[in-house]
Amino acid sequence: MRTDRTFTMLKPDSVEKGHVGAILEKITASGFRIVAMKLTQMTSDDAKAFYAVHSERPFYGELVEYMTRGPIIAAILEKNNAMEDFRTLIGATNPADAAEGTIRKLYAASIGENAVHGSDSDENAAIEGAFHFSGREMFCYFRM
Ligand code: RTP
Ligand code: MG
Repeated sequence: MRTDRTFTMLKPDSVEKGHVGAILEKITASGFRIVAMKLTQMTSDDAKAFYAVHSERPFYGELVEYMTRGPIIAAILEKNNAMEDFRTLIGATNPADAAEGTIRKLYAASIGENAVHGSDSDENAAIEGAFHFSGREMFCYFRM
């Protein structure tokens, strides 16, 4: 399993509030290279499947509503130690607990509407990237 890619979504609130440019600037300035990126809107079935791990949680319905209410930016990012470094860059799930300077501290409104998604394991990063992108949409900077 490769360890140098992660997957992100700039969630509907980030698009609605016009924060996409600023968040992408922060991501690329932090050393992440964009491997794949698109503006897309998830259907209810998409969001239910994407967040199936939370299907028994009380916030699941709210989460599906939120994630489908408008377009998102989906992207695959590349960097050494990408998954862990990206989770550090976005900060805690609840912006009230997020460290100063993190994306969620700067742009998230609440624990429910928290601006950005970051994969929580290398395995999930690969699964989530493949959920949104075909192989030919993923750019290879280095060819063998
Ligand atoms: P994400 O998967 O989106 O990167 O967020 P995360 O790992 O930091 O947090 P996770 O526990 O996976 O939760 C997924 C998303 O569900 C929403 N949520 N709402 N109302 C609530 O208590 C609550 N808890 C979580 C958030 O949008 C969270 O990012
Ligand atoms: Mg998560």
